Amino acid sequence: MSNTHASPYGTLPPASPVAARKPISLPRLNELRERGEKITMLTAYDATFAAVADAAGVECILVGDSLGMVCQGLSSTVGVTLETMRYHVESVARGIRRVQGTAWIVGDLPFGSYQESKEQALRHATVLMQAGAHMVKLEGGGWTTETVHFLVERGIPVCAHLGLTPQTVHALGGYRVQGRGDSATKLRHEALALQDAGASMVVLEMVPKPLSTSLTLELPTCHTIGIGAGNGTAGQVLVMHDMLGVNLGKNPKFVRNFMEGQTSVQAAMSAYVAAVKDGTFPDNAKHAWA
Ligand code: KIV
Repeated sequence: MSNTHASPYGTLPPASPVAARKPISLPRLNELRERGEKITMLTAYDATFAAVADAAGVECILVGDSLGMVCQGLSSTVGVTLETMRYHVESVARGIRRVQGTAWIVGDLPFGSYQESKEQALRHATVLMQAGAHMVKLEGGGWTTETVHFLVERGIPVCAHLGLTPQTVHALGGYRVQGRGDSATKLRHEALALQDAGASMVVLEMVPKPLSTSLTLELPTCHTIGIGAGNGTAGQVLVMHDMLGVNLGKNPKFVRNFMEGQTSVQAAMSAYVAAVKDGTFPDNAKHAWA
């Protein structure tokens, strides 16, 4: 079997042998977790980068609303619309299909698209699922539990997002570490309630390592995906632009530039996958809250 992709986008780098890899599904993610293998996730927003990430062995591609900041030049994710998310989810799904990729695609529900009611969330989650997402992500605990249950009961896998939730950056007072001191108990209860509601994944963003590590043990059916949360989680996620060192602003402290020492984007992504799998990323010493 040829190792190159016929692509309308130009020449894509040689892929890992696709036939040797199983499509990623919820049971497959459970399998990885059971055998103690870390889950890898990266953001991607278009067909080509999604295909490259897939070829590098990234299991989950998050079409994150961070695209508002890295693609659209917005100062936060608040201005991202459902139509923009639909467009990017569709592009990523098309890219993965073209290369017969295996990645699990997570589509972010943007600010204002799920807060009104669970029916509103279902309508908008349907838009992203029909565009090619396998799962939707929404931010927040507490009030989101009922919505998560409503979506999961209707066949839509859900990834929750706790800790630093960028859509509520104005309420949080900035991009700060969450879940310290007394707020750790609240975050823990929210995470357990989200698991009970059926969330099969939760992003834990900028929370202390002891909290994310103990939550990982307490959430056997809801895979913890950390970002700035230490290396005790079931998996890791990074914003692609950050890990390629092409962020327009300042990189968060916990990010590593995986392009360093590499000669291609695919090699950088493969290095990320290897470092997450062997536990050398994240490096806990790089951020004080770990
Ligand atoms: O939108 C996004 O990229 C995210 C990640 C930071 C987890 O939510």
